[in-house]
Formats: sequence, structure tokens, C-alpha cells
Amino acid sequence: MKTYLVTGAAGFIGANYIKYLLKNYPDVKIVVLDLLTYAGNLGTIAKDIDNDRCTFHRGNIGDRALVDSLFAEYKFDVVVNFAAESHVDRSIENPQLFLETNILGTQNLLDSARKAWVTGKDEQGYPTWREGVRYHQVSTDEVYGSLGDEGYFTEDTPLCPHSPYSASKTSADLFVMAYHDTFHMPVTITRCSNNYGPYHFPEKLIPLIIKNILEGKKLPVYGDGSNVRDWLYVEDHCKAIEMVVRNGRVGQVYNVGGHNEKKNIEIVRLTISTIHRLMTETPEYRKVLKKKELGADGQLSIDWINDSLITYVKDRLGHDQRYAIDPTKIKEELGWYPETTFEVGIVKTIEWYLNNQAWVEEVTSGDYQHYYERMYTGR
Ligand code: NAD
Ligand code: TYD
Repeated sequence: MKTYLVTGAAGFIGANYIKYLLKNYPDVKIVVLDLLTYAGNLGTIAKDIDNDRCTFHRGNIGDRALVDSLFAEYKFDVVVNFAAESHVDRSIENPQLFLETNILGTQNLLDSARKAWVTGKDEQGYPTWREGVRYHQVSTDEVYGSLGDEGYFTEDTPLCPHSPYSASKTSADLFVMAYHDTFHMPVTITRCSNNYGPYHFPEKLIPLIIKNILEGKKLPVYGDGSNVRDWLYVEDHCKAIEMVVRNGRVGQVYNVGGHNEKKNIEIVRLTISTIHRLMTETPEYRKVLKKKELGADGQLSIDWINDSLITYVKDRLGHDQRYAIDPTKIKEELGWYPETTFEVGIVKTIEWYLNNQAWVEEVTSGDYQHYYERMYTGR
């Protein structure tokens, strides 16, 4: 049995990861550390926590006393760090918070882990480490900057971040590697492309577009919509992380992506047409529409769900043009490949949102504190 500290698991990818671990890896116990910022929601993992395999602590990864006390209490074997401020647009509004959480928070975790895991010194003065421990950093392809029409990011692509978000993630990666090079800390890093799937907070492109369509609102496309992202189904990402945690070589970076490049405008159009199709095939789904317009047949109309909802808005400052990952290394070394094609994944995702509108309302209500009080007071 190994005990994992999983940070940020009340957010999108971390929540999917602990659900994936609990389902597929009976040899793992999990302790979640999450600050429950606007992006974290305890309800997302309410069914997963509070049993002998998974417990939850609310707190900041940058809180040294708290993180040290968790290491002392649980004797972690593995740390998987998802916790971060993750939205590029917010990083343009408030760069400082990204520096604090993503850089200082990561360095704090590294230092706590070092204190807990070092057993002595070797002949050259390098620390020696407890058998089987691992620090894993969840990073992003955005550290590589932006591509033109051709080429892919490999692990050797020079780091060239543009946004405050990607600059903070790059800096965190450099600290992780510095702890490996300087202290021989057993670390790994994964850098993935844009994830999509269940529990994605509706400020990011795909869930925002779905939410706006259901509300009959305009769909904001930044610039001319030609920017390209390489979409990865979240469960494929979780599988890749676990493969790297278990079998990845220490001190190595692994890129994770699925050759699923799409222009933003294609994503938006596909989301519109898929919602229209699903609501045509299964009229029951129309119940979730907030825009209630009756058609001639007396049913809720979906005639207005079309490309006229699209509105081109002012471009994001410093907007990276194209991301595309070369996943050869993780495929050849660890046998990972993305199992979910975009065509299948986008339908699964949209259907999840149609069936989980209560979750969307919960995470956008701003009333997460209520959950916390109800579930954790007095513990
Ligand atoms: P998210 O914003 O959905 O969730 C982040 C979580 O971290 C939230 O639960 C939040 O409460 C928590 N958190 C924030 N600050 C914290 C702090 N100081 N201490 C403890 N917890 C804190 O993010 P996500 O999309 O799930 O991304 C997870 C990780 O994956 C991030 O490190 C992100 O940079 C990386 N990543 C995400 C994507 C993507 O497409 N979403 C792509 C590449 C990399
Ligand atoms: P986003 O989901 O914020 O992820 P990232 O910036 O990390 O790639 O955005 C994905 C792409 O969609 C990005 O090119 C910006 C664009 N975008 C829009 O066009 N409209 C929107 O409302 C949002 C949130 C993003």
C-alpha cells in the first residue's frame, strides 16, 4: 500500500485523477490537500473522500506548517501536485497570485518532501532518499510557448512561456528539476495539452461554450478563432500521469498529448452542432435549456442553437497561436497512447454536462463554503 498526497484534487483534473486511482489502483491510499478556491469544489469529490482510502484536508500548498504536519501524520510515499491557479485570463488580471500559488507553493511542497524523505548523505554529499518515494509535478505544454503552422513540442523544445500563467508553471518546473539536479530528489514531470471532460470549471473554452449554449447566450471567440489547441480527454491524461508516477524514469519530463489538434472556431461549431443533434435525437435533454422558446410543435425549440450564437470578441493579450504535442517519448517508453478520440470524447463530455446541470449550478453559485461547513465542522 502506498500513500499519495494529491494536491488540487477538488479541481478538474485532480478530481478525475483520484476517481481514476480509486477505481483502478486498490494499492493506493490518498490524502487530498486543496484550498477550495473558486475552482475547487468539495461536492465534486464528496463521494470519494472520507473513507479509509481517501481523506480530505483543506489548506494551502504554500502553508509550510500544514504541509509538514501532513507529511508527519501520513508518511507520504508519493506527491502528485495538481494544485495551481490554472486560467490564463485570470493570470493576466492578477499575475501575483500565480507566482504565489504555482511557484512558491510548489517550492514549499518540494521542501517539505525533502525534509520528510531524506535519509542521510552519500559519499559526495548528495542526500539519500527513502526507498520508493516520488514527487510528480503536473505541468503544461504552455511552458514551450507557441508554434506556427508546423512542428510539435518535444521534451527538448526550449522553454519559452508567454503568459503569467505559463511563466509561473515554467518556473515551478525549473524548481522541480533543480531539486533533482541539486539534491537528487526523485522527481518526474508531465506536460500535457488542453484537457477536456467531466468536472471542467465553466470558465475554460469547452464547458463555457456548453453552458452559454444552454442559457441561450452568445459564444465569445477570441480574435479570429484560428488558434489551435491539442485536446486530450481527461481520463487519458490521468492514466498517463499514473504510468509516469509508477514507471517513468526519475528526473525525466514526459509530454502527454493526443494528436487532436483543432482550431477554436471548429470546437465551438462542433459543440453547437453536437448539442443540436443530441437534443434532436433525445428531446428529453431539452429540459436543461434555460432559454425556453416554444416551437410550432409545442416542444421547446432548438432552432436557435446554431452558429449565429458565435460572437468574435477582442483577442486575449499575448494569445499563443498553436499548441501541439509530440507524445513519442511516453508512447515508446511507457506504452501510453490516448484511447479516446475527440469525436467520442466531445460527445461524452457534452452528455455529462447535459446530465449534470446541478453540478454546474453548484460550482458557479460561489457557495462552496456551505459544503465545507456542512461536511467538516467539528472534525
Ligand atoms: P483547476 O483550476 O480546475 O483546479 C485547481 C485546484 O487547485 C482547485 O481545486 C483549487 O482549489 C486548488 N488550489 C488552488 N490554489 C491552491 C493552493 N494554494 N493550495 C491548495 N490548493 C489550491 O485546474 P485543473 O484544470 O484541474 O489543472 C490541474 C493542474 O493541471 C494545474 O497544475 C494545471 O496547471 C495543469 N494543467 C491543466 C490543463 C488543463 O487543460 N486544464 C492543461 C495542462 C496542465
Ligand atoms: P482556455 O480554455 O482558457 O485554455 P488555454 O488558454 O489554457 O489554452 O482557452 C482555450 C482556447 O480558447 C484559447 O485559445 C483561448 C480560447 N477561448 C475563447 O476563444 N473564448 C473563451 O471564452 C475562452 C475561455 C477561451
